This record gives sequence, C-alpha cells and structure tokens, in this order.
Amino acid sequence: DVIREIEGLGLKERRLADKLGLQQVRIVPGDADHDPLVIKALGHSAADYVRGILKSGDILAVTGGTTVATVAEQMPRTQLGVEVLPARGGIGENMEFQANTIASKLATKLGGTYRMLHAPDLLGDEALQTFISEPHVQDTLQRIRSARMVVHGIGQAIPMAKRRKLPPAKIEQLAGQGAIAEAFGYYFDRSGNIVHAMNTVGLRVSDLKHIEQIVAVAGGKSKAEAISAVAHGCPLHVLVTDEAVADAILESR
Ligand code: BG6
Repeated sequence: DVIREIEGLGLKERRLADKLGLQQVRIVPGDADHDPLVIKALGHSAADYVRGILKSGDILAVTGGTTVATVAEQMPRTQLGVEVLPARGGIGENMEFQANTIASKLATKLGGTYRMLHAPDLLGDEALQTFISEPHVQDTLQRIRSARMVVHGIGQAIPMAKRRKLPPAKIEQLAGQGAIAEAFGYYFDRSGNIVHAMNTVGLRVSDLKHIEQIVAVAGGKSKAEAISAVAHGCPLHVLVTDEAVADAILESR
C-alpha cells in the first residue's frame, strides 16, 4: 500500500471513484491494450477483491469475455462454498470465454457449485419464451437474479457487436445511434443511455439494482469511454481497471 501511494495509484483510485460515483476503484499499473501482463494483473486484483467479499452460501454471477476469464484463471483455490452462475446465456462466443465455462471454472476454484444456462446469444422471440418457460431455467434465472455479487466485463460497442456476429445492418444502426459501450448484452451511448438490448436470457439491467456488489473488470485505454459510459448507465459499485483507463477518464471532462 505504501508503494501504491508513492506511485500515486491510491490517489487516482479515490479520484476515479469520486468522478464515476463508485464505492471503490482498483487500478493496476500499465495499459492492457499493449501488455497482456496487465490483463493478468486485472484478473488477479479482481480475484483478490471477490474472494475478500464472498461468504459461504453466496451466489456469484459472472459474464463471459476474456477479462472475466482471467479473473477465474487468477483465482486461488479456496473452499468458500459459493454457487457460481452465468449472468447470461451467451453461447456464440468462443467456448473458453463463455459465461458458462467461466462459472464452472470459478466454482472449481472456490470450492463451490455451478449451474449452466445453455442459451444461444441470438435467440428469436418465440424460442426465447419457450426456453425461459422451462421450470429448471426459471429456477436458474431466479437464482441469478438473487445473486449477492456480479462480476462482469465491459466492451466497446462495435467490436463486441462484430464479435457476436450481429448482422452488418444492425452494426451500422448501432453506430448511427452512437453506441460506444457494451455490457450484459446491452449497448450504451456516451451518456450511458441504452440504445439496444440483445434478446438475452439472464440478468437484465433492471435486475442490477437489487444486487449488493456489482464489480466490473475492464482495462486498456481503448475501453476508457466505454467504461465511463457503463458507469453512468448501469448500477456499478466497484471497478477494477488499469492506469491507462484511469488517466484517460480523469483527463476527460
Ligand atoms: C462479455 C460480457 O462476455 O465480455 C460483456 O458479457 C463484455 O458485457 C465483454 O463487454 C468484454 O469482453 P473482453 O473480452 O473485452 O473482456
């Protein structure tokens, strides 16, 4: 901690928390855009935070993405006895970055249990309704909504839309609507307004207000605006990010 203060990270953490209206910010040195070790450090810091908060019997919901995958990778083995659930269906991403995969990995690390939500990302309305009405899916969804903690990633809108293989016309429309950020399958403009929501099974932004600890993990200067937009548009308590993002947001108006 002394070293953090000398580096000025502690001060930046408090200034960024103030600016974004968050309970806590954790900053790791560097820029994840240019150094994979910084992503590892983000994962490590987030894992450390999560482990400090979780208690036996808690439900933890996690999204997919490469960054949250690193949180699972960096999580030390413990015997916490928590239940880990995917925040959303999200099949369509690479297997190792799907929320389901990450939830199962984390459950193993934390000495807990997990459940899966096997729903494709791009489900039509009718298929979605049929899927949601399954009793075991209902039960899982209810458990996800009663999570004590959610750990999620934040992406840039257009790169995420492409990664999810949205049709080109939809991507163009998103760009036209000023979408710059993505989280939980929702696309946000600069001010944090939702401009598009995916037909997603799982946690909705409206569920977040009931959740005690919402933790976002995202770094790399290219994500700075997206992170700031999500912090304005979504309930968020804790942000784990890198110094490049912190500097960019602190310098912006
Ligand atoms: C997704 C989350 O799986 O990961 C998104 O559901 C987030 O909310 C994205 O935008 C970020 O991915 P990455 O790979 O940049 O950490």
